[in-house]
Amino acid sequence: MNERILKLKNLYKDSSKHSTYQNIPSFVQEALGYQEHINEEWRGDTARYKFILGFLQELKVDSIVDIGANTGFFSHSLMKDLPNISVTAIEPNKNHAEFIREINEIFNLTNIKVIDKPLQIENFDTLQNEFDCALILNVLHHAGVDFDQDKVKEPYEVWDYMENYLNKFSKVSSLIILQLGYNWGGDKTKPIVPTSDCYQMFSNLYNSAQRSGWNIREVAYYFKREQEYKTMPQSILDTIDNDESKSRDLFNSWCLSMDISTSSEFYKRPLLILENSAN
Ligand SMILES: C[S@@+](CC[C@H](N)C(=O)[O-])C[C@H]1O[C@@H](n2cnc3c(N)ncnc32)[C@H](O)[C@@H]1O
Repeated sequence: MNERILKLKNLYKDSSKHSTYQNIPSFVQEALGYQEHINEEWRGDTARYKFILGFLQELKVDSIVDIGANTGFFSHSLMKDLPNISVTAIEPNKNHAEFIREINEIFNLTNIKVIDKPLQIENFDTLQNEFDCALILNVLHHAGVDFDQDKVKEPYEVWDYMENYLNKFSKVSSLIILQLGYNWGGDKTKPIVPTSDCYQMFSNLYNSAQRSGWNIREVAYYFKREQEYKTMPQSILDTIDNDESKSRDLFNSWCLSMDISTSSEFYKRPLLILENSAN
């Protein structure tokens, strides 16, 4: 095996908690003949990437910050698919940050900056520029476990932490694509919301985002049959503020139609698009 691919493989498969998580971007697979197997039945990038790319293609986005970039699937794929954007990939795992740098070097990608330090509320100021869009995908339910250990001591405290984080985050970006896991630090014995209660996850996310000063522009869920994310009908978003039980009923019947109860915990996580209400 070519030495470069071997190096990539070793960096990819380090023994940390978030290892062997993301797909290899398709342009890398095609050019190097290198891929890693992710069982997309259980967790995957293809469907969420398609949704995120479709959304970003409609906007004029020049700069993206990918917080918890992992091995750079989103950072690199977006760089290829959205010409002229600049990307900042933040990934504290040194091997994974190095994996991203290695791909940058092989493909001579210069519009991407890698920061291998954790982003926490206290160091938002270290990001020197403001971004058009931030990806915060599956990071914040690890607060208190992977980072900011002193700020979240119990699973339910993730919600207050997230509200504070999002509130301060308006300095960093005017748009956020957010995804959150049900279990604190990924530990099934410590749910922040029971996996069976998708409505609770949705309404907690909705309320936290609103209280922290963000408008909820779109919410999307994975439809198992079509294997793609679809945007939630506006009627559900419209009722949540004034008729909680009606909104739960509408939500549940929509969920029935997409067979969400049989999805894995990962595919029960909605994708939220938040926009700064001050804009
Ligand atoms: C569950 S993975 C999600 C990866 C990716 N965002 C996705 O959804 O495919 C969480 C990632 O966040 C990173 N991470 C953990 N704490 C972080 C922090 N304080 N700032 C930035 N990234 C962090 C981890 O190293 C890991 O790569």
